[in-house]
Amino acid sequence: MKQIALTGLKPSGSPHIGNYLGMLKPSLELAEKFQALYFIPDYHALTTVRDRKQLANLTYQAAATWLALGLNPDEGIIYRQSDIPEVFELAWALSCFATKGLLNRSHAYKAIVDDNTAAGREEDKNINVGLFTYPVLMAADILLFGTHFVPVGLDQQQHLEITRDVALTFNKNYGNVLTIPEAVIRKEVMTIPGIDGRKMSKSYNNVIPIFAPSNEVLKPVKRIVTDSRRPEEPKDPDECNIFAIYQHFADADAVAAKRKLYLEGGLAYGAMKEELFKLLEATFSDKRDRYNALMDNTDELDKILEVGAKKARDIAIPILAKVRKAVGVRA
Ligand code: TRP
Repeated sequence: MKQIALTGLKPSGSPHIGNYLGMLKPSLELAEKFQALYFIPDYHALTTVRDRKQLANLTYQAAATWLALGLNPDEGIIYRQSDIPEVFELAWALSCFATKGLLNRSHAYKAIVDDNTAAGREEDKNINVGLFTYPVLMAADILLFGTHFVPVGLDQQQHLEITRDVALTFNKNYGNVLTIPEAVIRKEVMTIPGIDGRKMSKSYNNVIPIFAPSNEVLKPVKRIVTDSRRPEEPKDPDECNIFAIYQHFADADAVAAKRKLYLEGGLAYGAMKEELFKLLEATFSDKRDRYNALMDNTDELDKILEVGAKKARDIAIPILAKVRKAVGVRA
């Protein structure tokens, strides 16, 4: 049997090309080598999203994102976390093996405590217990499927360490029940620069969306920050924010030709932006249509997610049974 790779996509809205290059595309490639599981941790989002419609809609957006970008639901398994009741049972069992001190050290939790302290508030002010135990639920997401590999960004590395810590503690007591997963940290994650040259991120407002209408893709492309060199002046492509994005989408020959043009002079930034825009359209316009079609047909999405949940539970149920047997509740 193939080893399992599991990816969680937080339901946090329509993706941008930084998400695409950094995480979506590499995760989709996992299906070639592994039994790939893709899920949407919608109950995790409840730690912060308090609007019912918004939570449901963000979850659909995440599912539509995977599918529009080419996830084949006959190969990869795509599901909602909330459709797998076994996750929450395992989370309880694991919580009994996660020390409070371990969770106290979680960066995400500590950051909020620090904010509170800095603002002169009581340190745990407004921190719900779900937020505090977030890493335990995440451990359950992973351990429930006997996952071998979890591709994550650096920001999730600590969560994977907590997962391993809890699993090892559990195994120490009961024998080799849980598979110890490995984080596959995408260090090379090319930090994709946004239109202002800082890391592309919604919080910097410097993103190029992938599923927005063409004109909303064109707008940020036109606003990519450049210096004021004239077309005939030679330029360093590696200093150019347009080139930094372009090189991930164009083929090698085109990239080499552009590099030459930068260095020798003769390249106008305006024309380069237009080319980048065309390339993005060529890459994403079909995918955008598919995304919109899925978002217009959430019944179809529900169906795909239900089928996925069933397949996921087929993997999960025997593993949870092992856990139940191990701890001594009725198996
Ligand atoms: N915490 C992850 C994030 O913020 C989302 C997530 C939840 C996850 N459960 C997971 C990622 C399990 C990988 C595996 O992006």
